[in-house]
Amino acid sequence: MQTHSISYKAYRIFETQEGFKGIITQCKISDLPENEVLVKVLYSGINYKDFLSSCGNKGITKKYPHTPGIDAAGIVETSASDLFKKGDQVVIMGYDLGMNTDGGFGGYIRVPAAWIVPLPENFTLKETMLLGTSGFTAALGIHKLLLMGQCPELGPVVVSGATGGVGSFAVEILSGLGFEVWAASGKQNEEYLKSLGASKILAREEINDTSGKALLRPSWAGAFDTVGGNILATLVKGCKKLGSVTTCGNVAGAELPVTVFPFILNGINLLGINAADTPMNQRLNIWKQLSGGWKPRQLESIGNVITPEQIGEALEAMRNGSHSGRFVIRHEENF
Ligand SMILES: NC(=O)c1ccc[n+]([C@@H]2O[C@H](COP(=O)([O-])OP(=O)(O)OC[C@H]3O[C@@H](n4cnc5c(N)ncnc54)[C@H](OP(=O)(O)O)[C@@H]3O)[C@@H](O)[C@H]2O)c1
Repeated sequence: MQTHSISYKAYRIFETQEGFKGIITQCKISDLPENEVLVKVLYSGINYKDFLSSCGNKGITKKYPHTPGIDAAGIVETSASDLFKKGDQVVIMGYDLGMNTDGGFGGYIRVPAAWIVPLPENFTLKETMLLGTSGFTAALGIHKLLLMGQCPELGPVVVSGATGGVGSFAVEILSGLGFEVWAASGKQNEEYLKSLGASKILAREEINDTSGKALLRPSWAGAFDTVGGNILATLVKGCKKLGSVTTCGNVAGAELPVTVFPFILNGINLLGINAADTPMNQRLNIWKQLSGGWKPRQLESIGNVITPEQIGEALEAMRNGSHSGRFVIRHEENF
């Protein structure tokens, strides 16, 4: 069969008079962008960026109809690149996938070879998606913390948004590396967070200081923030001297109400994370860490495996913030 005649299903977002709507649609390979490698998607994941794309956020996706899905794993169907051949198992995460290039909510994707990672050692395709951009982001942030000298001996590291995808993996990997992890969450989900390795649970309010002070009593040695806003500011202001704080998300706000004092008096390092644009050599290096000792022990309990028909429900749970962990889509034969 000629590939251009293959049809597949995708959960596509349409701009309608009533707003942006997700509909399962029959698509043709010929509708996909003209890139080098055609991949049959077996597993994909749902990230916060996909939620934003599904709501019509034009900062993420400019043109609709569109198929979100920034994470996908599957098998090469055809390749115009020497780097990959039919049958190869591959993983694609980030770059423009699911943003303005049709992504993993569909049965096929067609991407440049430069975006593709061969299936990492010690992982199955399903496991790469259980980890997904969330786990990769957690690993990238932790890699940066370690580069800045953060180590278990310095004291506890706080993780905010701890029951979310990135937060859950950050708790798991940090505790696996021997850190004392304080998990901060807006949910009553102590058992889940303890099972990931958190030694102390903080309520969200405990890391949301409203005193207006420039510096707070130093309480933690470092922090992995996933929510931004005043919570990130609190984590910076309450960090012990020379500690590091990572930033990757903005669900609690995009403003950062801090003065320069935590930086110039306490020497705090604020470390930015951009997983999507991680260069390939660094990307492979992080996967190597993940294939080795960093592989989360509880991939299965962090990932909720769903069918493509349940994507709408999962996006709704993300809107309400009612889910824990991460959603992974198992594509059926005809999807
Ligand atoms: N920069 C990057 O490269 C990169 C990569 C991946 C993700 N991200 C970003 O990182 C963030 C987290 O991603 P994710 O996949 O973990 O998302 P997620 O699964 O939706 O988790 C976000 C978590 O944030 C907490 N939260 C929700 N609403 C909040 C609010 N109003 N105030 C404070 N906390 C709130 C909740 O945790 P609790 O209930 O436990 O508090 C929620 O589970 C997102 O903003 C995402 O866009 C960035």
